[in-house]
Amino acid sequence: MSKKDATTNTVTITDNRTGKQIELDLLKPTCGPMTIDVTSLYKQLGYFTYDPGFMSTASCWSKITYLDGDKGVLEYRGYPIEQLAEKSTFLETCYLLLHGDLPKKDEMEKFEYDIKHHTMLHEQLLRFYSGFRRDSHPMAIMVGVVAALSAFYHDDEDIHDPQDRMNAAHRLIAKMPTIAAWSYRYAMGMPFIYPDNSLDFSENFLHMMFSTPCEKYKVDPLLAKALDIILILHADHEQNASTSTVRLAGSSQANPFAVLASGIASLWGPAHGGANEAVIRMLTEINDSGKPLSDFIDRAKDKKDRFRLMGFGHRVYKNYDPRAKIIRKICHQMLESGQCTDPKHQKLLDTAMELEKIAREDDYFVSRNLYPNVDFYSGIIFLGMGIPLNMFTVLFAVGRSVGWVAQWNEMMADPQTKIGRPRQLFTGEATREYQEFEER
Ligand code: SDX
Repeated sequence: MSKKDATTNTVTITDNRTGKQIELDLLKPTCGPMTIDVTSLYKQLGYFTYDPGFMSTASCWSKITYLDGDKGVLEYRGYPIEQLAEKSTFLETCYLLLHGDLPKKDEMEKFEYDIKHHTMLHEQLLRFYSGFRRDSHPMAIMVGVVAALSAFYHDDEDIHDPQDRMNAAHRLIAKMPTIAAWSYRYAMGMPFIYPDNSLDFSENFLHMMFSTPCEKYKVDPLLAKALDIILILHADHEQNASTSTVRLAGSSQANPFAVLASGIASLWGPAHGGANEAVIRMLTEINDSGKPLSDFIDRAKDKKDRFRLMGFGHRVYKNYDPRAKIIRKICHQMLESGQCTDPKHQKLLDTAMELEKIAREDDYFVSRNLYPNVDFYSGIIFLGMGIPLNMFTVLFAVGRSVGWVAQWNEMMADPQTKIGRPRQLFTGEATREYQEFEER
């Protein structure tokens, strides 16, 4: 749908300072809020709009992911996340996000072949790992190694060629699990395990994470299935901070591997993808403190205290994050199945559920529509899989890479795309003369 097709009406802006009136186009989306096209505002009125957190601003058009924060709806290319989590696989979801429709059988087989034949890294890249300290955070390693891919794939890719962009997409989707698993192996002082093309995407990740050269590693199919669903849930999420970072970095026509490294860097923050690690640290602090949960709820409400309920609240969802509902169910299934034996994990889940219950009855959280988000329960599942705490956001990045690359591809395919260059509300000093030392 072009902007012309979306234009249904206009809004009139009256400048009460000058009495001038202008008309701006009103755009009707497939679903979601009507949108005022302000591209001509500065030209017509000489005014900027001011919206630092993009609370009311659409930064682009997109056909990939739709979410309704009030209803708690999330759809990839029109398919509800609940159906994809139940019936699809992560790799099929990657195809859907990249190409816009579910694949036919032959299309899926070709896609799986292409991805499987890009899972290896250039042998020179292995040396990057040894430049890091063993106790480096795996996200720091991932940012570095993914950015370094731009040194290996630069001249043979034309980002204006659709096929070259798809090659870059395949390489990134395929190599992220390898880079992620090897970040863990390096930290543990264990040898890198190469990808095994006889395994599916999530089985292969667990194989590269946990198998050893000395004995045959049997992937637990239940854990592989749980991981596959979690990757589906993390695959894309409209114009979140890291995706917006990828779009802005990509708008300068930079190398796609360097662009994705910028997305990984943005995701790392505890206000965004780093929240899954922060939730477990918070729950552990609560459990170890021996203090009542109400103390922590009070701290979360105290503006003078930096403590926040990690995994709670969301810029868009003012209802239960649909992904959190699915993850919560997997949490229960995994713990009830006895898959994870560590009683600490059950205690974390019990504390998380108690915290959710108290918060959802407290007016501070209810009045601000603060609900558990995708990160509130995901860490408990990762722990149950034997994934260490500092690898949680790395897994988020593995899932989100397809969303980043699909959104980057959509932007690069649009001939109207311009470099992103926001303006500002300048509140600094007006023009003033230079003063010599004596005059200062
Ligand atoms: C992700 O955007 C995406 O789609 C992101 C994501 C994705 O898939 O890409 O969904 C993934 O990043 C999920 C969010 C993970 N982050 C956390 O769980 C960190 C804890 N949450 C908060 O930091 C916060 O809720 C944000 C950052 C998620 C959203 O912040 P907003 O939209 O800027 O909202 P806000 O900070 O202005 O909060 C509104 C009010 C404030 O109080 P008042 O000023 O109105 O008095 O709610 C309060 C906040 O203080 N508040 C919280 C809170 N979150 C918001 N108070 C206590 N604990 C919290 N967690």
